[in-house]
Amino acid sequence: MLVTALLDWFRIRARDLPWRRTHDPYAIWVSEIMLQQTQVKTVIPYWERWLSELPTIESLANASSEKIHKLWEGLGYYTRVRNMQKTAREIVEKSGKRKAESGNDSCKFPQNFDDVLALPGIGRYTAGAICSIAFNQPTPILDGNVIRVLTRAFGITTNPREKQTNAQLWQLAGELVAHASHLTPHVSACSRLNQSLMELGALICAPRSPQCGVCPVQKFCIAHKKNLQERLPNLGKRAATTERRFLAFVVERDGKYLVRQRPAGIVNAHLWEFPNIEVVAVAGRVRPSVRAATGSNPNGAQRTDTPYRADDFRPTSVKPFCTIKHSITRYRITLEAWRADLANLRAGAPISRSAGNVSTAINAPGRRAAPPGSWLTLAQLRSLAFTSAHKKILGLLEPLG
Ligand code: ADE
Repeated sequence: MLVTALLDWFRIRARDLPWRRTHDPYAIWVSEIMLQQTQVKTVIPYWERWLSELPTIESLANASSEKIHKLWEGLGYYTRVRNMQKTAREIVEKSGKRKAESGNDSCKFPQNFDDVLALPGIGRYTAGAICSIAFNQPTPILDGNVIRVLTRAFGITTNPREKQTNAQLWQLAGELVAHASHLTPHVSACSRLNQSLMELGALICAPRSPQCGVCPVQKFCIAHKKNLQERLPNLGKRAATTERRFLAFVVERDGKYLVRQRPAGIVNAHLWEFPNIEVVAVAGRVRPSVRAATGSNPNGAQRTDTPYRADDFRPTSVKPFCTIKHSITRYRITLEAWRADLANLRAGAPISRSAGNVSTAINAPGRRAAPPGSWLTLAQLRSLAFTSAHKKILGLLEPLG
C-alpha cells in the first residue's frame, strides 16, 4: 500500500542530504527554516557553513546581528534569520530559568508540537517537519511538494488554496503519517514517511512532466489512472507579474563607496545596499519616484518605509555600470547601476571616517545634506551582508589597483 511503497522507495532513493545525517533538532530546525522558499541545492552550503560557525543554540543566541545576516546573505527573507535568533535567545533564557530552579542546565530545543509551533517564524508545516524528522512524532506536513503528491495520488481536483481542500489535505497527510507510526519494521517511520513525500514531490512527482514511469506509487495514483497528472494540483490562476525598475548609484571617493544599511521594518531590513531609488512611469513618462526601493504599494499611496528620497540624489556625470535582473515573488525587477558623482557632495568636503558598520549621516555644510550612509572600502563592504542584487554590483567592483 501507499505508505509502505513510499517508505521502501525512500530507503533506497533518498538523497544523501547533510541534515539527514543528524538527529540534532537544532540542526534540523536550521535546515527547515532555510528550506522554506529555497531549493535544496542552494541550502546545502549555507547549512554547512552555519553549522560550522554556529553549532549550538547558545552560539546562535550569542552571535552578532552582522554575523547571522552575513551567514544568511543571499538566502533572502531575512526575517527568518532574525526569528531564529529570537527563538535561540528564548530557549537559552528558559534553560537559564530551569537551571536556577532545578540545576538542569541543558539548553534543549522544545519537543512538544504546540511549543514548537509557538516559536517565532514557525508555522504548522515547519513544526510538523521538525517534530516528525527530529523526534519521530506523527505530525503531518503539507508544503508545495506534498500538495502535488497528495492531490495527484488521491485525485483531488479542487483548489488546494481553498479552505476545505486545504483541510482535506492536512487530514490526509495526518492519516498517512499516523499510519506510518503504526508500522513496526521501519525505524523512524514518521520521519521517513514525511521526508518521502517531500522527496517524491522533488524528484519524481514534478510540477511539469512528472516521471510516472518510475514512480513508486504509480499503481495507487488516481491522477495517473485518469491522465490528470499535468493538470493537478489545480491552483487556479497565477497572480500577474509586475515589472519594477530601480536605479542604483555607485559613488566612490578616495577609495570608499557610499552605502547604507536598510532600516528595520521593511523588506530586506538590516542588509546593506548602494543608494538607489525606484523609478515609476507617471502618465507615460518615467521619473524618479520619491518612494523607496522596497516592496510594492497596491493602493498606489506613498510608502512610509522610504529609505531614500529622490531628492537625496542629484547625480552628475553618470556612467552606466551594469544591469541586474531578478525576480522576487511576483515582481520582475530591473536594477540599473550607474557610476555617479553626487552634486550635493561638496567638492573636497571631508568624507566621514566611518568604519565598520555604523551608519553615519554625512552633512556638507552650507548645502543640502548628502544621502545618509557610510563610506566604506571594498574590503569593509565585502564583510557586510548585502541584498542579493546589490551583492552582484559589489562583485563587479574591482579593488583599486
Ligand atoms: N524541503 C523542506 N524540508 C526538506 C527536507 N527536510 N529535505 C528535503 N527537502 C525539504
